[in-house]
Amino acid sequence: MTITIKTGADIAALRIAGRLASEVLDMLTPHVKPGITTEALDKLAHDYIVNVQGAIPAPLNYQPPGYTPYPKSICTSVNDVICHGIPDGRALKNGDIVNIDVTVIKDGWHGDTSRMFVVGEGSIAAKRLCALTYEAMWKGIAKVKPGAHLGDIGHAIQTFVENAGFSVVREFCGHGIGQVFHEEPQVLHYGRPGTLDVLVPGMVFTIEPMVNAGQRHMREHNDGWTIKTKDRSLSAQWEHTLVVTETGYEVFTLSDGSPPPPAFINT
Ligand code: MF3
Ligand code: CO
Ligand code: CO
Repeated sequence: MTITIKTGADIAALRIAGRLASEVLDMLTPHVKPGITTEALDKLAHDYIVNVQGAIPAPLNYQPPGYTPYPKSICTSVNDVICHGIPDGRALKNGDIVNIDVTVIKDGWHGDTSRMFVVGEGSIAAKRLCALTYEAMWKGIAKVKPGAHLGDIGHAIQTFVENAGFSVVREFCGHGIGQVFHEEPQVLHYGRPGTLDVLVPGMVFTIEPMVNAGQRHMREHNDGWTIKTKDRSLSAQWEHTLVVTETGYEVFTLSDGSPPPPAFINT
């Protein structure tokens, strides 16, 4: 298996899919308030993707080998849920943190992005975890340019996170993406500089670090999908889809409602 290199036409299509995925998060943002259920957020997202965007929610019925079909259109991962939380009838409450992960398919191409939301007034600790994880994602993105190695990305994220006293989840990673939801390469959020694949223009992948306030270890819920922290500490995640360009990178999953990059990114 090899890493596919996207053409100019592929990249134009991915740019559209990426923006659409981000715009779903923009649409959801005013609804992420105490009292709303994650199932209600799922329905809002599903109907918007299908009826307004003319796109497909990639998670719905997605079934990687060894999994049961995913039953919803987005992932909603609350508090100690690391990833793949399934929307349900429980209401968000003041102080919760929730990751909303959206993947759309438009004209056959995927856009995959997630953001953290603090519901109502969050604790200082919760807000710090969310902000630090956002910066960790961008520490990884900042390494992307031709000639860099995948290990440079993982190392930048891991050192930043661990120097702050938090931990990086190892069992899940970023991924190549295109006409296939999850393809090569795996993009680890930990590692050593100068290791793994060399980046070349036209590679498209996600960077989506999961950061725990406590230890890095996870446990699987018996619903076959939900992943939680073993020690029940809070967990945060952010995700962008991007392409390696001749001079660096272009992030596809941006829209009017995207938070600005951190100050260490020169745009
Ligand atoms: N969007 C997730 C990712 O970033 C994958 C979710 S798979 C699902 O890779 F089936 F749970 F939706
Ligand atoms: Co992803
Ligand atoms: Co995602």
